Amino acid sequence: DKSGHRHFMAKEMAQQPAILRAALAAYTDATGTALALPEGAGFDGVDRVTLVACGTGFYACQVAKYWFEQIAGLPADIDIASEFRYRAPVLSPHSMAVFVSQSGETADTLAALRHVQGKVARTLGVVNVPTSSIARETDVALPILAGPEISVASTKGFTAQLQVLMLLALQAGVDRGRLTPAALADHLSALRALPGLINQALDREGQMRDIARHLAEARDILFLGRGTMYPLALEGALKLKELSYIHAEGYAAGELKHGPIALIDQHVPVVVLAPHDALFDKTLSNMQEVMARQGQVFLIADARTLAAAGEVTHSLTMPEVPPLLAPILYAIPAQMLAYHTALFRGTDVDQPRNLAKSVTVE
Ligand code: M6R
Repeated sequence: DKSGHRHFMAKEMAQQPAILRAALAAYTDATGTALALPEGAGFDGVDRVTLVACGTGFYACQVAKYWFEQIAGLPADIDIASEFRYRAPVLSPHSMAVFVSQSGETADTLAALRHVQGKVARTLGVVNVPTSSIARETDVALPILAGPEISVASTKGFTAQLQVLMLLALQAGVDRGRLTPAALADHLSALRALPGLINQALDREGQMRDIARHLAEARDILFLGRGTMYPLALEGALKLKELSYIHAEGYAAGELKHGPIALIDQHVPVVVLAPHDALFDKTLSNMQEVMARQGQVFLIADARTLAAAGEVTHSLTMPEVPPLLAPILYAIPAQMLAYHTALFRGTDVDQPRNLAKSVTVE
């Protein structure tokens, strides 16, 4: 049942604020100032975390790596399940291995889990389907509580994975003595404010549709971002490829001049993700390099970055957000641009060609 929405994807995007709010309440105590994660999701004696997933789940892991390092000072390795299982990963017996999967049935991720069993201190499953194989076979299951996701393109699964991974990074920060109770309470209060910001972003659907109208004309599109906006650039490009069949690539903005800048001309839209964080001015200078080569820039940023950016032809004003939480908020334009570009192209939004919701073969 699409609850009045045109597609399951539209419904699932709209559900995100309520899902995040409820999941946060489920994983914090009654006062909302301390964590209440399932038993076993702690970091005492844990010396590193290894995060493994496929597709969109992998981009959530890539964001989480920044969080574990920054918030908890905990070394974090990330890998795509289909690569991880065929390498000879050097695992610490004191590490925690985290498997992120919406379906909990992705064959490569499940095989990666089986590969580490007995070689690490603990395995943890960040899953949406609580009865899934990955939920059952991990030592600790940490459901993301997003409810059934029907659309092949993952949307609410991604943001719900991100929030749970943020809570895990906060738990690591507490257990490693890096976060005082007051600092934790501040982080949790910022997370509580996030659904309100996501609603504001969802309300800008009309502006995102205007950008999508341009993207729908393109043959190739680039997404650029730095820091946690780099995995968001990858996610934006993946969503766009999946739904509209337009070739799109995400790049770390600083890598632009190491190759992809050769692609830029007036026909290539470049979507730049630049919340006002510690790196925004560096991202803006990469954007200038694109503009100097007549690339069509679409700047997605808050008012403070936009004020510093000067003249840009196309922009989307996002709400201001604490930089650590920006990846969850900027998932909205990443999803919405792909959704509306697909509508302009007339492709099948909920069931893109060649794709399955759950990839249970290698
Ligand atoms: O169920 P999983 O989270 O393990 O699925 C992993 C990927 O197959 C999945 O995220 C895929 O990339 C989506 N279609 C992305 O929208």
